[in-house]
Order: sequence, then structure tokens, then C-alpha cells
Amino acid sequence: MKQFKVDEAFVDQLTLAEKAALVSGKDFWYTAGVQRLNVGRMMMTDGPSGLRKQEEGTDATGVNKSVTAVNFPGSALAASTFDREMMHDTGKALGTAASHEQISLLLGPGMNIKRSPLAGRNFEYFSEDPYLTGEIAAAYVRGVQEMGVGVSIKHFAANNRESQRFTNSSNMSERVLREIYLAAFEKVVVDVHPASVMVSYNAINGTLNSQNQWLLTDVLRHEWGFDGLILSDWGAVVDQVAALRAGLNLEMPGHSPESEDAVINGVKSGELSMATLNRAVLYVLKTVEKWGSTQEVSPYPMDEQHTKAREAADDGLILLKNESAMLPIKPQDRLAIVGAFANQPRYQGSGSSHVNAYQVVTPLDAARALPNDISYAPGYAIDGDDADQSMIDEAVANAQSADKVVFFAVFPESMESEGFDKTTMSLPEAQVKLLNQILSVNPHVVVVLQNGSVVEMPWADQVPAILETYLAGEAVGEATWDILSGAVNPSGKLAETFPLKLADNPTYGTFARSYSEENYHEGLFVGYRYYDVKQQPVRFAFGHGLSYTTFKYSGLKVVDQGDSVAVTFKLTNTGKRSGREAVQVYVANHASTVEMPIKTLAGFEKTTLAAGESQLVSITLPRRAFSWYDESKPGWRVDNGSYDILVGSASDDIRLQKTIWLNWAAAQDRVTLDSYINDVMDDSSLAPAAAKSGLDAVFEKLRAAGPGAAFLMNMPIRQVLTLGATDDQLSQFLKLANRSTHSKRE
Ligand code: BGC
Repeated sequence: MKQFKVDEAFVDQLTLAEKAALVSGKDFWYTAGVQRLNVGRMMMTDGPSGLRKQEEGTDATGVNKSVTAVNFPGSALAASTFDREMMHDTGKALGTAASHEQISLLLGPGMNIKRSPLAGRNFEYFSEDPYLTGEIAAAYVRGVQEMGVGVSIKHFAANNRESQRFTNSSNMSERVLREIYLAAFEKVVVDVHPASVMVSYNAINGTLNSQNQWLLTDVLRHEWGFDGLILSDWGAVVDQVAALRAGLNLEMPGHSPESEDAVINGVKSGELSMATLNRAVLYVLKTVEKWGSTQEVSPYPMDEQHTKAREAADDGLILLKNESAMLPIKPQDRLAIVGAFANQPRYQGSGSSHVNAYQVVTPLDAARALPNDISYAPGYAIDGDDADQSMIDEAVANAQSADKVVFFAVFPESMESEGFDKTTMSLPEAQVKLLNQILSVNPHVVVVLQNGSVVEMPWADQVPAILETYLAGEAVGEATWDILSGAVNPSGKLAETFPLKLADNPTYGTFARSYSEENYHEGLFVGYRYYDVKQQPVRFAFGHGLSYTTFKYSGLKVVDQGDSVAVTFKLTNTGKRSGREAVQVYVANHASTVEMPIKTLAGFEKTTLAAGESQLVSITLPRRAFSWYDESKPGWRVDNGSYDILVGSASDDIRLQKTIWLNWAAAQDRVTLDSYINDVMDDSSLAPAAAKSGLDAVFEKLRAAGPGAAFLMNMPIRQVLTLGATDDQLSQFLKLANRSTHSKRE
């Protein structure tokens, strides 16, 4: 019943009670309608990897009771595709499902950054990298919304732990917040215009997000120009009047009449202005007008969607290791399949993203369709550390008489879920013990991982092949064997670093320790940004993933286009079979004199090449790839100077490199009175200015004095006056130095 025209005059027709109802949510999944004015209710439902549409009248306790829907790969795997097109297709499939189920808003994707390996909801988030997160999320949101269904991106913002998630404060500098935790949201809001943003439970620097005017109004609305609906995560509103004043539009779920009364009383007492309430009502109504479903519930092709879920998983599965030609498995290989999860796979996460899957194909089912001679032994219990001796014996005996062992190593559901954080990155002991026993009788082992977040793998050096399947969705079995058998050439890349051990992560020892505060002491150095700068060896680096073919990178060209940089290079498939490669471009900033990661991901592309084929790959790096957030003059800033452009197959496998000098910033004095003497002396391009002005006499004296003069060189150049230079010499030097450096340098 979408027959109303929303504008301010329409809002004026509403009673205060109607307005209060509209901003308070009707129940768990619906907004309130206004029957007399033909305003329908609007239903929302969880994504992000399938629909969790619940019957009317359900609440949080019915979390696993929802309509049947196709379960797509979880976000951790989705991001590993490094494939915008695939994510766009997945989004379209979800949009199709949602529109046929009469859903107006899909709640997802989750776009929070993976800061700690222990964060309980990592499976539902894309990456440790904001650029990758933003790109993948943007493609997904575009896909859903093209099918006429709105999206609510979540959880805004800095919701990086589950413990005490309703009250905890994420504490960090504005620069860190902007560059790491807000950047992906900014990208999606500005480029794709999602229907809605979901405000998270937590606080940032002491202010609850649902009451944070700076976050909701100054940044989201005004700076980024967001014109959709700002709704709360379920139960994130503590004070509805304060939330509306800060810029929230809709409290979910509604728990009328209390919320409505609070709004009505707020207006009556003058605490909440009618203008503020009207503004929130307008956003709710505009969302209903634009996205409110008018379709009847109707069937849609679920088999087709299952195939899409399989293709998406195929595109994301990551071959972490493959030695001694273990993979692909040959049709004549006799296989011992070990691990209870081959038969009862872990293919999706737990909590609000849980889907009542349409058709789960287990790895064991899919293996039975292969020509191979196969045995199966569960080997350990699904949930727990104890294993029955007879189960162990059976698995070891099977392994002993097989050519190859396919061992399923899995984080059980009880270990990771929404609502709590993990305490370890290790697999259950029973699994590790069994794996070691098997390795002692048959070293030809392929480990297949099913997990929502990174795993410690002390056994990795003993195992010749490892396949990461994360939570692969309902086509888990088919996709697993597509890769193991070689029917599909693997092309997934890790969207997060796998450290050697938990203690290597910068949040170790402090993550989720305090009930009230989470201090982001590592600042910008999240994920590979940290391991790079610490030169910390890792198990598998960000961006890593193998193929059954090989790729050669050559002929890098880097061109300054005035406000962007064009990167082109040749990619050749040098192997014997066709394959897909996710190429990655990183930028290393040498221009800015502030804390900087060694390199940051700034571009990627996924491309398919036949055996022997070459392609020219072009990637444009926008201004933002060279910018940092300057809190002292609030805004994004680019510095003139040199940047390395690094092109590679992974963050630890850079194949091509070029340096470019950018002069995009307004001319800045290169040397000021505050420039340091040692920096000036080290810069050979300043030598002529030093010679002409006479300052070189002072520099010579310092050089001749040897190490003892080091402390003198660590003084600002204005101090040369105390070392024998004159005022005239100094000002002439500054003039000459800055004249020569304002011109463009290559
Ligand atoms: C979760 C959201 C979810 C909502 C509705 C909350 O607990 O944090 O991600 O969309 O519930 O199920």
C-alpha cells in the first residue's frame, strides 16, 4: 500500500502519537504503519549471507527459526574472492530472495574491521583492511539494491568485539577511526547510497554510538551526505530522546509503549523539539516510500541460487599450501576422509546471521560422487576435546591404507558466535592430536579448514597441503571438492593475516580485558599493517592464496594523472591451465612525516587468463590512496613527495615496484625554520642552496666534528645562528631551498 507522497506537509498531518510510533519500530522486524494515511509497515530481516526471515511475533529467542533460504558463503570467505563482480552477483541473488519474501530492508553486510583474531563475529566481517572491506561491501550493496531491496550496512561503527558490546567504549584517535574503522562505511555511503545504516551498540571514546551527534549527524549526514535511514542495532538505544537528538531515526526493535511514551513525553517537556522528531519521521517515511515492499510473497529459483552459492564459494576458497603435488587429487588416489565435520560441516555462523539453509551438500556427500576409492572415519566428536579410542583407531587405520588423507580441521560452533568473543585461536585438542597421529602413519595429508576466523597451525610445516574453506555456505561440499579435485582452479586470497600464534597479534593480552574500555593502542597498525612494521613472521600473509597455475607480472607503468595515479602492467598465465588471479596494488608513503604503515592496499582486480594468455591490467589509484587524516587541520591531506607503488600476488609477494613523486598538494615550503639540520644536510638536492648562502660552512664544521656533533644536528635549522651562521645566510638559504623545490620533481 505505497500510495502516499512523503514531504514535510505529509508529516504535519500526523499526530504526535503516530510520529512516536513511526520512530519506535512496531515489533522485532516491522516498522509501524499509519493505516488512515495508507502508510504500510516495512519488514526487515537479517542477511548478510542469506535471509533469516522470521514469522511475525518472533523474538530473539527464535533465532534459528526462519524461512528456508539459500545460504551463501559467510563474509570472511566472500571477501577472499577479491571479486567485485562475484559479490555484485551474490548481492543480486540476495536481493531477489528478499524481494520475493516481501522484505524491504536487508540487515547487512557487517563491515567492521577484524582487529583481533578473537573477536566473536569475525566470520561475519570481511577483512582487516578497510579498502578491501569497502570495495567488497560496495559491490554487495549495489547488487541487493538493484533488485529493489534496501540494505542496512552495519555495525556503525568500531564494533570490534562482542564481550560487553552494549556498553564498551572503543577508544582511539580520530585519525585511526577515520582511516581504519570509518573508511569502508564512508566509501559505501558516498558511492552506493545504501538505504540505511545500522548504529552499533558500543560507544566511541566514551559516547554511546546511538547518542553520538558527531558520528551520526556531523560525519554521516553532513560530511558524507547520507540521506537514508539511521536505525539502531537491536536494543542499542538507551535513551530514545537523546538518540533522536543525536540523529538516530528509528529505534529497533520497538518496545512500545515505553519508547513511544518517552518520545511523546520528550516533546511535551520540550526536551525533544518537534522539528527533530519530524526530521526522524521524514527519514522513516521516505524509506518506506522508496523501499517498502509491494510484492506478494512468491517462490524464486532456489536451485539456481544454490549454484550461485557454489560459484561464490569456488571463487573464494583459499589454497594456503600445496607441496609435493598433493593437489589436485587424482581420480586414482585412494582417499581416507577423516573428521566428523566432513559429514556435518560447519558452513555458517551462529547468531543473527544464521540461515535455515535450503540444501546443504556435505563434503562427504560430494566425495561420494567422485571416481575415487573412499573411506570415511569421524575420528573425533563434533563438539569437544575428547575422542573415543575406537574412533581414533579407525581413522588412523584408514589413513594408513590410503594414498592421501583429507583431514577436516574445524572450529566447532560452540567456539565462535555472535554475542561472545573467543578465548583461543587453536583447534580443539582432540583434532590436533588425531592429526599428529595420522601424520605419523601417512604424511600425505590435506587439511581442510572450516572456521570463521584465523587458526593457529603449529602443525602446518608437517602438512603438505592446506585448503581454507572458512564458512563456505550450503554448497560447502561441492565447493570443497571442486578445488580438491581440480575441477576448479583455486583463486581465493586471504583477506586477513594468519599469525603464527595469538600472542603475535598487537591486541594480545589487552583485547576484551576491560569491561568498559577497549583501548586501540595499536592505532593504525591493524593486521598486516602491524606485522609489516614489526617484521613479524606470519603463517600466511594478507593477500596470500595459491593456484594450480602460475602467473608472471611484468612491465609496470605508473603515471601521475594530476589527481590519481594510473597503474598498468602485464599479467601472463605461465602455467598449463586456465586460472584466475587477484592482483594487488599497495602504496608505500615516504612523503608524510607522520606515523604510516609500511604499505597499504590501494587497488585490486580479479582476472581470468587461459594457459599462456597475457593481459594488460589497469588499475587507477584515487587521491585517497595517498591521503591521511590530519586532525590538526581536520581533513584528508596529501603530501608532496615520493610514494612506492607495489604490485603483487600477495602482501608478502610483491613482484613489481616503481617510485613516483607526487606534487598534488598546494606548494608547501619544503624547508622551514623548524626543519631539522640533519634532514637538510642529508638532502643532496639542497646542497646548492647551502653553498650559495654560505650555510655549508656550518654543515662542514658539523660533519668534521664527527659523532659528537650528532646532538647538534638534531636541532631545528634556526639554531644555525648559534653555530656561527648569520641571519642573512639563513634567510637566503630558506629562499633558495624553497624556490628550487616548489618546481615539480620526478
Ligand atoms: C545484531 C545485528 C542484527 C540484529 C537483528 C543484533 O543482535 O547485532 O547484526 O541485524 O540483531 O537480528
